[in-house]
Amino acid sequence: MSPVALSLLALAAATVHSVSAQSTFPPTALADKHFAYPTGIPYKVDTDEGLIRGHQAGYNICNSTTENQHSLCQTTFLNSIDDFCLWAPIEPESMVANTEGEMVAWCTKPGRGTRLIPNGALRGVQFMKTPDYVQVVGFIDQSKINIKGDDWGGEMDPHGADLRGNPMGGLFYSNAFSGNKDNYVQVIEWHNFMGGNAFCLKACDPAGPNAAHFCEHRLDRIGCQFNAPNNAQNGTFEACEGDNQDYPGVYTVDGQVMTYTQPPEDQGAIATMPYTARIPSSSNCVAHTSEVLYKALAAVTAPGDSSSAPAAPTGTGKPSGSSGGAGTTKGSSTGTAGAAGASQTGNDAETLVVGGMMGALGVVFSMLFFA
Ligand SMILES: *[C@@H]1O[C@H](CO)[C@@H](O)[C@H](O)[C@H]1NC(C)=O
Ligand SMILES: *[C@@H]1O[C@H](CO)[C@@H](O)[C@H](O)[C@H]1NC(C)=O
Repeated sequence: MSPVALSLLALAAATVHSVSAQSTFPPTALADKHFAYPTGIPYKVDTDEGLIRGHQAGYNICNSTTENQHSLCQTTFLNSIDDFCLWAPIEPESMVANTEGEMVAWCTKPGRGTRLIPNGALRGVQFMKTPDYVQVVGFIDQSKINIKGDDWGGEMDPHGADLRGNPMGGLFYSNAFSGNKDNYVQVIEWHNFMGGNAFCLKACDPAGPNAAHFCEHRLDRIGCQFNAPNNAQNGTFEACEGDNQDYPGVYTVDGQVMTYTQPPEDQGAIATMPYTARIPSSSNCVAHTSEVLYKALAAVTAPGDSSSAPAAPTGTGKPSGSSGGAGTTKGSSTGTAGAAGASQTGNDAETLVVGGMMGALGVVFSMLFFA
């Protein structure tokens, strides 16, 4: 499909979403539904009838019966570098923008009734613990978790225009805040960008006074670079401690604190950004080996694994090749890569593709566009 067609498709999808937002809200917003883990969790969290986006795609009680690569488990986790889940589509070759309401959990560890991330899909992961949140940023062969290889992606969070969340009914827990591995707290504020063969996922400590700010969910078109600024590297697996980021969209110029406002989609692509997000300092990074971290995934394969390898650079301007993001562009690299914090100069054709996509879709690797 041409970039133009893709953009039109995405615009159509975006229009449908905003119509639904105006028309129907659940009596209780997802972010206001709180359940103790594991005993308080209902079979489905989103059960209201007659809402425009339809029914919750999966379920929230997940167990050994649901643990397989067809699981529709929508209860997810972020605990540590070796123990987290990402939201990804149910069916292969899906676009994030079309499936954000129905995403299911894909995890690095068995035992929670979810799908598992196929072996070799994760290519670099940085876990960061700060005073107010835990965050995981990484590089992934996204075709192995059902995201179309050339999809620049979008953003999931527990709000959404109609307050049912993306995915609808998705629940999130972590044991990273309690100081006790067996004590899971519900994460009320989180955001997850998926696309461009990269991801970032931030879970804000519900006990922190500014969880909603650190896990801001409105800047869905400017990617990880601005929502989760980081220095994660493709090929590196590490767990660190760090300082807090600035709130997404908040930046300081000449001592003056400014707030970025994301323009509405009908104003077209976001062509320039007035700032570069500050990457907070980090320390105590511990390097890991993926085979050790994710040894439980060794036998997990993706359907059609052989065709899911990233395409070689084409330079044709077609959004072929997954690694579009960072991998396939030409020119000198001016930074690290993609969603991750990455910047890389692109040839004009691919920059155009990214620009077109950015108009309508959230993107993970926004720096590409500015390079
Ligand atoms: C396992 O999960 C499924 C799907 O949510 C549910 O229907 C079933 O009751 C659960 N089984 C047990 C023993 O909890
Ligand atoms: C990460 O590195 C792998 C292996 O070199 C490469 O195939 C992939 O395209 C890279 N991903 C990104 C997003 O740059």
